Amino acid sequence: MTKKKIVILGTGGTIAGTADSASDHTGYTAAQVGIEQLVAAIPSLRDSPFGLVTEQVAQVDSKDMSFAVWAKLAARVSHFLAQAEVQGIVITHGTDTLEETAWFLHALLNPDKPVVLTCAMRPATALVPDGPQNMLDASAVAAFPGARGVLAVCAGVIHGARDVQKVHTYRLDAFSSGDAGPIGYIEEGRLRLTRNWPEAVIPRAPVAIKFIANQEAALAWPRVEIVMNYAGAGAAVTSALVADGVQGLVVAATGNGTLHHELEAALQLAQAAGVRVVRATRCFEGRVIPGAGDLLPDSQGLTPVKARVDLMLQLMG
Ligand code: SIN
Repeated sequence: MTKKKIVILGTGGTIAGTADSASDHTGYTAAQVGIEQLVAAIPSLRDSPFGLVTEQVAQVDSKDMSFAVWAKLAARVSHFLAQAEVQGIVITHGTDTLEETAWFLHALLNPDKPVVLTCAMRPATALVPDGPQNMLDASAVAAFPGARGVLAVCAGVIHGARDVQKVHTYRLDAFSSGDAGPIGYIEEGRLRLTRNWPEAVIPRAPVAIKFIANQEAALAWPRVEIVMNYAGAGAAVTSALVADGVQGLVVAATGNGTLHHELEAALQLAQAAGVRVVRATRCFEGRVIPGAGDLLPDSQGLTPVKARVDLMLQLMG
């Protein structure tokens, strides 16, 4: 029988970062160490009963994540998912935009195998780096029979792509699934699940996949920007974006989707002019609960950054 494989794709981040001193956890350069070297440094991963395939898809600090990298990553993930002998995929990624890449891949591909993003809050050169354990935990999730969907693993916690959010600038356990709670935990290499694997979404493929695979189109992804409600928010930013040709606007509203009346009027004008407008909340927990008379549609529980990704994928169609 063909040996099952776990594929490990590198994209950069702090997990691949280096600093001059082992005690420096903030003054490092992200995305320096190659994926093969990261895997080679973890003996128990090398000894895995699965065949390991590694590939460097990108080497970026995830604050600089680009549509070109997303397009390449989506193509490589689809390529490996289609192989019967591939059990699951691990992606090493920076923490800063991990949740956006996770939702991008989940909404686009809706994988029925596990695609597990993992990361680190300390560089590879730290006295006690967190990346190796996170990679080991992510591999345990990728190997788990029945696991599905795009997931994120950090500090022993398994999150689903829809709910995961970076919530801390420094702590090793930097992610939360908010009031949805995590999918489970990894303890001594074993999984303890607290809820079901992520539900299937209606995948944006094949239209979006075709769009994304087209390198020329990749240079002109639908333009969707985020505006925010706050004390004194007005119409100026929204009006400028509409004049500049924006195709979609996500508003990070206050509370249960509330908006300053001037911003609300500007967004309604934008919508009337053909710009797609979506209302998310800037609150960390909860979602905008729709009301009967809503003029601006809500984000169906997606955070502003994920609602933006979702709207871009919809506009590709
Ligand atoms: C990055 O997001 O690439 C740098 C920060 C991190 O990984 O924690």
